[in-house]
Amino acid sequence: MKVFKKTLELKNELDILSKQGKKIGFVPTMGALHHGHIELVVRSVKDNDITVASIFVNPTQFNNPEDLKKYPRMPEKDIAMLENANCDYVFLPDYDEVYPKIDTTNYDFGMLEKVMEGKFRPGHFKGVGMVVKRLFEIVEPDNAYFGLKDYQQFLVIKSLVNQFDIPVNIVGCETIREHDGLAMSSRNLRLSDEQRKEAPEIYKSLSFIKKHIEDKSVLEWKQWFKDKINALSQLKVEYIEISDAITLEEVSLFDDSKSLVICVAVFAGEIRLIDNVLIND
Ligand code: PAJ
Repeated sequence: MKVFKKTLELKNELDILSKQGKKIGFVPTMGALHHGHIELVVRSVKDNDITVASIFVNPTQFNNPEDLKKYPRMPEKDIAMLENANCDYVFLPDYDEVYPKIDTTNYDFGMLEKVMEGKFRPGHFKGVGMVVKRLFEIVEPDNAYFGLKDYQQFLVIKSLVNQFDIPVNIVGCETIREHDGLAMSSRNLRLSDEQRKEAPEIYKSLSFIKKHIEDKSVLEWKQWFKDKINALSQLKVEYIEISDAITLEEVSLFDDSKSLVICVAVFAGEIRLIDNVLIND
């Protein structure tokens, strides 16, 4: 496995491989890798001739400077995990390699960036769009792999490649969970023992709603989730939305013919956890 810090060096190497007809798979990450990230790499290795992973904690997508400062960084451990997963190339750029000049592109994801994560983290998806577009320009992958754990991000990326006509196939991969159901996240490392103990209630409650969805109305389920989670000493619900799985428009009634997604953000102290379940997918 080769590690590149310079855009041009990586680009030159990948250009040669592309010209030889090699299929390139790409897994963008912000590092502090866990099994969820590694599954994306495994999938890419299976589907492609060459797999590239990037590790870049992208400042333009953090609306909270404290979160950016505290974001875990452990490149050596990450590199070892990627090597173990048979990744071929790792891109580990500095800020200037990713953003050599100011990007004046207007990123507009409409409804997709106005709700949920977009509403509570203003500017977040413009930053995600900016970095992913730039990384796609550098790597020019045939396939790129994203986790459905960040469901809204997955839709934003699909909209990005449509809007800018980027010739890449976006592959959504299922959420990887701890044995107790907690969605794997780099932020889980910051949970205290007590917070970690209560955190699995998020997915347990989401799964309960999915299973019994017919039993209550949309409004009743939202309230049920808030009451259940807020009753715990360590957790506080920021939002729960039950939405159309394609447009993210809120639904008011359940309809068997439509795919829905239930998305939540829950604070454990100052650590923000997100999760979702799909219904009728
Ligand atoms: P990051 O949070 O590091 O996640 C990198 C990729 O791993 C994303 O596609 C994310 O959805 C996926 N992922 C994270 N946890 C997962 C889990 N438990 N199961 C399955 N997939 C999981 O998402 C980002 O970085 C950034 O926004 C990025 C796209 C790299 C742009 O900076």
